[in-house]
Amino acid sequence: MSGKLRVVGGTPLTGEIMVRGAKNFVPKAMVASLLASDTSILRNVPLIRDVDVVSSLLALHGVKVDYHQDSGVLSITPGQPHLPKEPARMDSLAGSSRIPILFAGPLLHKIGEVYIPDLGGCHIGDRPVDFHLRVLEDFGAKRIQEREGMHLIAPRGLKAKQVHLPYPSVGATEQTLLTAVMAHGITELTNAAIEPEIMDLIAVLQKMGAIISVDTDRTIRIEGAEQLTGYSHTALSDRIEAGSWACAALATRGDIFIRGAVQADMMSFLNMYRKVGGAFEVKDEGIRFWHPGGDLRSISFQTDVHPGFMTDWQQPLVVALTQANGISIVHETVYENRFGFTEALRRMGAHIQTYRECLGGLECRFGQRNFYHSAVIQGPTPLHPADIEVPDLRGGFSHLIAALAAKGTSIVSGIDIIDRGYEHFMQKLRSLGANVEKIS
Ligand code: EPU
Repeated sequence: MSGKLRVVGGTPLTGEIMVRGAKNFVPKAMVASLLASDTSILRNVPLIRDVDVVSSLLALHGVKVDYHQDSGVLSITPGQPHLPKEPARMDSLAGSSRIPILFAGPLLHKIGEVYIPDLGGCHIGDRPVDFHLRVLEDFGAKRIQEREGMHLIAPRGLKAKQVHLPYPSVGATEQTLLTAVMAHGITELTNAAIEPEIMDLIAVLQKMGAIISVDTDRTIRIEGAEQLTGYSHTALSDRIEAGSWACAALATRGDIFIRGAVQADMMSFLNMYRKVGGAFEVKDEGIRFWHPGGDLRSISFQTDVHPGFMTDWQQPLVVALTQANGISIVHETVYENRFGFTEALRRMGAHIQTYRECLGGLECRFGQRNFYHSAVIQGPTPLHPADIEVPDLRGGFSHLIAALAAKGTSIVSGIDIIDRGYEHFMQKLRSLGANVEKIS
């Protein structure tokens, strides 16, 4: 991973920034456009690398994509897509992104086959795709394993199925939605994920002509349609990015107004922010987050699927918890390996210990196994500057927050990964008064 940043920390971040469309929604809406032949328009699209990657993946399939960065308007015209002429290019573009596997349903409907590159693991866990493949095979797809990557075909088309997910996986729910909307018959999906990003994807699919209902017990019913049309939609805003900047305000004793942050999508985050002792004020155009002075309070919580406290907020909040008075306990139940980033925090002076046991919550899937998925943080401890290497997207932003909170000069390496999900983060940091300089 490349890109090095010199950070002179110790200054509270203050000012205003804007968040645009959600990284974990926009690429899925882009894939959904493949289900139509005519043009789809998506607004509020951020300039992040994941959008770039999905645009290139679509282009490899013959799809026309136009993006106007300033207005954030993206138009996608699939016409008649085809398999990529250079599959190797697909492998190198995809990296560790999970998005290529979501091309499966739409392309199996449109052209009867799809190529999926090797997706690989990442620093937060193995991230298998077994649920996705089971869903696709249940619908009638056949797998042809290649030396690298995978070919799927649907010789007899795709037929609706009863699908029960072993865990409410976001990706597998999206896979089922994108496959079921044009499958023959009615699909009943149980134990589905119901994250706001999924609800927005359902809104997009409904605009395209789909009939989808969502019950209160994680059951989603999808009636297959023969034909879908392009959509026009404004993406919901990025609640992970908003939460990350809110934690930066807390850890640096700052005050940030986040234009575009939406209360309804951040309820569990706002509750936790208040419990820790952070202050916030909800306005029509966004939410102001600040450190009100005095001590922060320690807390105990676990991450969970929606409507629980989301895993992607865990890493930035842990940085703020190093500044809270007392012992905090965090139980990570979504990914088995999302505390790797705490090693750098320990080197910076934080008192954090990780455990295999399920602490501070109910027993989870990772209990009694060899995963250090609980953390105990004892604060407050001043953070010292250090040279650190970022491990993954959210862990990387959290390291950046730690460096901004530590008085003195830190060098943060591997920061290019942060562009994957944080639009204009360097400009935003500078506008909030951070002393940061890219040195390679
Ligand atoms: N899982 C399986 N098998 C599968 C799919 C998932 O075992 O086939 C497991 C995963 O290993 C994980 C759990 O189920 O332990 C949840 O995974 P999920 O499928 O919900 O996650 P995802 O769809 O791969 C999306 C986001 C993640 C976010 C999670 C949870 C995208 C591109 N990614 O991942 O975002 O953490 O949902 O909300 O939408 C990030 O933005 O940094 C990020 C990692």
